[in-house]
Amino acid sequence: MSENTSVTEQTNHRFLASTNHDEKARQDFVRSYKEYLVKNIHAGNRERYEKTIKPKFEKSQNREPGDRFEVRDLMVKDPYYQMFSSLLRTSQEMMWSSCQIPVEKRFTALNEEIHLSNGESNQGTLKLDENLEVPRYHKAVDIHCQPGGYHSEFGENDASPGMVYDRAVHIYAMGQMGPFNDDMGASIVLWLKENHPDFKPLRILDLGCSVGHSTVPYCKAFKNAEVHAVDVAAPMLRYAHARAQDMEAPIHFSQQNAEKLDFPDGHFDLVVSHILLHETSGKAIQNIISECHRVLRKNGVMIHAETPPYKGMSPFDAFMLDWDTRNNNEPFWSRSHEIDLDNLSKNSGFDLGKKIETLIPSAFQIEKVKRSEVFQGGDFGGGGQWFIYGNWK
Ligand SMILES: C[S@@+](CC[C@H](N)C(=O)[O-])C[C@H]1O[C@@H](n2cnc3c(N)ncnc32)[C@H](O)[C@@H]1O
Repeated sequence: MSENTSVTEQTNHRFLASTNHDEKARQDFVRSYKEYLVKNIHAGNRERYEKTIKPKFEKSQNREPGDRFEVRDLMVKDPYYQMFSSLLRTSQEMMWSSCQIPVEKRFTALNEEIHLSNGESNQGTLKLDENLEVPRYHKAVDIHCQPGGYHSEFGENDASPGMVYDRAVHIYAMGQMGPFNDDMGASIVLWLKENHPDFKPLRILDLGCSVGHSTVPYCKAFKNAEVHAVDVAAPMLRYAHARAQDMEAPIHFSQQNAEKLDFPDGHFDLVVSHILLHETSGKAIQNIISECHRVLRKNGVMIHAETPPYKGMSPFDAFMLDWDTRNNNEPFWSRSHEIDLDNLSKNSGFDLGKKIETLIPSAFQIEKVKRSEVFQGGDFGGGGQWFIYGNWK
């Protein structure tokens, strides 16, 4: 692995698709275009709402807009919001295409290299299940506009959706997930070490791991632990395994549905997920939490990281956070931010007296503030915080 040159650049690794000058310039343009939107355009929506749209509504109705749906009805007619929303959607489409171009060009060679490396594995394992049924909530749309989503295969032993995703996450988050895109995993590790210093998990499971961005920090932090990671999408796992090997992280990847795992009861000390739940369905979340309860040992803990729920948020803030539902092919985003997680946990057998529900600081933001004065605008990650929900068993 080569060292990163700047904290906001993605750290290179053997399997990150290389880019020529023009390809890199295109990706850098998308990132700075998005930074510009977040830093300079986003705030104008609040100004339009507070100074013009809300007062007009209050004058005619003698009350404030009551929920995010009323705010939405007003905002979608506003030309400034329409401009912002259209530009943000465009940034998303440009992001995917800028990451696909270099991968498509070297599709066969990149896939061969990953396939060979997975075959030579001396660290961790990769277990695929070609009979696993990919759930409908996963296949019904191209999730967050990634063409083909996570699971589509465009050739034999295809890992290209993983290659595209790895680079795209860094652009999407404008570098704010850190040089390894691992901020969610790193933040939970930091929170555990600070709040539960005696907790030393020996078996860890990461659900919906994608390319393993968040899984690697657990491996590095709990060196004696056996770390497992599952995902329904084979292309993500092929890439994840190759990437983890290059990072000397011995992770056991397997293609499984988190709703129905093949691990025995009471097997794990720690079960985590990072932005998995909002990409599933109400029924799936219940099944996943029940599986967490089943595979956890007594005194083990499940922790799920997400963006914060809408409860307690102003209708305007909830409306803005809800942008992805209608504009970014995230059909379950809305519902997942309103779901009664306590009820699901209780149904699964957890004792709510042992629940965890809090905002935790982003590990990368903490380090970054200490290190340099780099760009810190942006909306993903809740401005330097993650929402975690979980329960000790
Ligand atoms: C947003 S990505 C997760 C990102 C990753 N956890 C990280 O921290 O970088 C969601 C992942 O969940 C996977 N997924 C969706 N439904 C699943 C399920 N029922 N079981 C396992 N994986 C699932 C998708 O294939 C996708 O890779």
